Amino acid sequence: MSTTVPGLHPLIDYHPETTSIRDEVLDGLQQTPKQLPSKLFYDARGSRLFDRICELPEYYPTRTEMGIMQRHVDAMAARIGARAMLVEFGSGSSRKTRILLDRLDDLVGYVPIDISKEHLLQSAEDLAEAYPALTIVPVCADYTTTFELPDLGAERTTVYFPGSTIGNFEPDAARDFLRRIAAIEGAGGGLLIGVDLQKDVATLEAAYNDAQGVTAAFNKNVLARINRELDGTFDLDRFRHRAFYDADEGRIEMHLVSLADQRVVVDGVDIQFDAGETICTEYSYKYSLDGFAELAGAAGFAVAEVWTDADDLFSVQYLVAQ
Ligand SMILES: C[S@@+](CC[C@H](N)C(=O)[O-])C[C@H]1O[C@@H](n2cnc3c(N)ncnc32)[C@H](O)[C@@H]1O
Repeated sequence: MSTTVPGLHPLIDYHPETTSIRDEVLDGLQQTPKQLPSKLFYDARGSRLFDRICELPEYYPTRTEMGIMQRHVDAMAARIGARAMLVEFGSGSSRKTRILLDRLDDLVGYVPIDISKEHLLQSAEDLAEAYPALTIVPVCADYTTTFELPDLGAERTTVYFPGSTIGNFEPDAARDFLRRIAAIEGAGGGLLIGVDLQKDVATLEAAYNDAQGVTAAFNKNVLARINRELDGTFDLDRFRHRAFYDADEGRIEMHLVSLADQRVVVDGVDIQFDAGETICTEYSYKYSLDGFAELAGAAGFAVAEVWTDADDLFSVQYLVAQ
């Protein structure tokens, strides 16, 4: 990474390259039913595939959230207030953030936090070139763990958590995670969060089963990553992508389905699959506005303002800790 880009601080690294995914992978594959944490999608290739998903015609969340941001950025900026530090959880390519950065000209600094280091560094460098006056402090961390935020001397902290990434947490974990965010923002701060909404099943299922197969490649990338990083023997052609909406749980479930009885070895450990057995790789909970307000309330937040699109597909919400 260039050190000459103005405003760009060195990476704060809580997630060194040597961090092994071994324990989480083996633990998940030895459970019944088998599961893997969705954060494992995001190595460099997974992050690039996610960016392609965001461009797909079926994937309404990104363009809908961007549209809401563009339409209501003035109101969002008014909520965020003067001389704030903007801290983004799961910043990815920081594309939506640019809408805020274009409008917030007195930000004290921007702190993008992501687990996908290479992608984070590239995004931070691209941003620093586009916003030379902005202080940017990239933090590589697993945001479910404990880490320190830099002190930039801001008057307030706004946490930005777009992309409905909150939907990847099961409700109890979502509540606990939001509680941690409430503790970060402090006096005068807030949480600007993207929350995907419940809608017809066809729209939801199409978004996770695109015709080009990019979501399938993204899902299977976790197996390729295990092969590479843990000497795995997954044959990617012997698994297929499956995503469906579970209306009782209010969530999309993403799975990898074994196409045969088969044995896979991961870091020397045998894992047996029956034909049709699945690995659950991601949940994506969809909320009603009332349901999310209840969750936010249980985490100690009040919903101060909600912005939606004309079809109520998606919401961006400003929450304030009580
Ligand atoms: C659904 S994508 C959203 C990206 C972007 N914020 C957006 O709205 O398009 C989730 C992002 O969170 C990051 N991420 C997932 N799990 C994480 C974790 N446990 N800790 C830190 N970052 C994580 C991924 O690398 C990815 O960039």
